[in-house]
Amino acid sequence: MSQIMPIKEFSQRRRRLMEQMAPDSIAIIPSAPERVRNRDVLHPFRQDSDFHYLTGFGEPNAVLVLIPGRETGESVLFCRERNPEKELWDGFLAGPEGAVERYGIDDGFPIADIDEILPGMIEGRSRVYYPLGKDHSFDAQVMDWVQIIRSKVRSGAHPPGEFVALEHLLHDLRLYKSANEIKVMAKAGEISAEAHCRAMKRAGKGGYEYQLEAELIHTFMEHGARSTAYPSIVGSGANGCILHYIENSAPLNEGDLVLIDAGCELECYASDITRTFPVSGTFSEPQRALYEVVLAAQYAAIEAVKPGNHWNHPHQAALNVLTQGLIDLGLIKLGLDEAIEKEAYKPFFMHRTGHWLGLDVHDVGDYKVGDAWRVLEPGMVMTVEPGLYIAPGNMDVEEKWRGIGIRIEDDVVVTREGCRVLTDAAPKTIADIESLMAG
Ligand code: GLY
Ligand code: MN
Ligand code: MN
Repeated sequence: MSQIMPIKEFSQRRRRLMEQMAPDSIAIIPSAPERVRNRDVLHPFRQDSDFHYLTGFGEPNAVLVLIPGRETGESVLFCRERNPEKELWDGFLAGPEGAVERYGIDDGFPIADIDEILPGMIEGRSRVYYPLGKDHSFDAQVMDWVQIIRSKVRSGAHPPGEFVALEHLLHDLRLYKSANEIKVMAKAGEISAEAHCRAMKRAGKGGYEYQLEAELIHTFMEHGARSTAYPSIVGSGANGCILHYIENSAPLNEGDLVLIDAGCELECYASDITRTFPVSGTFSEPQRALYEVVLAAQYAAIEAVKPGNHWNHPHQAALNVLTQGLIDLGLIKLGLDEAIEKEAYKPFFMHRTGHWLGLDVHDVGDYKVGDAWRVLEPGMVMTVEPGLYIAPGNMDVEEKWRGIGIRIEDDVVVTREGCRVLTDAAPKTIADIESLMAG
């Protein structure tokens, strides 16, 4: 599958980051490490999101260095050297030359030489930006490089005096998605929506939760999305009430709902969709009643996603509709204001209505600026995912409600006019779900 994101966008991001860095500073950003799964088997490699954002370079054992104003090149990549013997076993390595030619980095060096070269690049820079505190061994590594410079102060070396967490600058850039990022995320959303449709069509055959998971993975892979953005949740019956259920091993029982929360990762961008539908293809009356409340809450929350509104507006909109719905159905026996005030909805809706979405499923970016909720601006992408979960052991409600878990989740980008839903190819009205499943 060809790549949607143009390589030049990565250099534009490096430029934008460097524009915000102090002029006599340096930024050091490591790749993700390889991780052992068991004995000599590794987990599939996933690049660190910050590193990917700035390079598009998909190898481990690499360090990006940004040095604003460096005459021989402001962006430097340390990475593994080419090695025909190793490449015969493990595949292509770009090498420092490839980093320059293929990734538009200004200057490349072997990672084996970093201890020799990097202290000289840090020397004379007063501030170092790096992912401070994210990984103990990298913290220690940075201090080792600085120590080399400190040991030479009597020869006139200038060690840096300030160490600053990189994410203050970088994560704010990542919060605003470019047109190309939206393109990738829309594609990821489309693939995931198709996967949910495939799983819905399979559900009528019965079987086990993991067989629906298999349908999801089939569609992701079919489209070149080789990984999920997070472990898929396929919860039938009361398992739908377990928010992070990933066991996916129970039988699909006629008469139950099944909640699927699953999304693929495409070019490192996450999609995140939840749909809830009846195994049999037809909602029962209590399922229908609760489902309509969640769907109305989701529409109300999406309506509240627009520039000028703040982060908490969609959540408040969803809360109002969910709480009123629970009152109307007799699950809460209070008036709306008192129910909201006393958080009487909490036993049935205990999570937030969404989160930022991007390279990470729970993406970076501040939700508050100081004490105020963040105002929504075009390019921000979030999920909208209200739900209702009636615990099977909740003896305060009529038996017919117990064990029903419903969530509806879409990915939404703030636009100039309001918002655009990236995942609406997955049906969510009762009529559309029943008709897809009947077909
Ligand atoms: N699937 C994770 C979430 O919805 O937040
Ligand atoms: Mn989700
Ligand atoms: Mn989510």
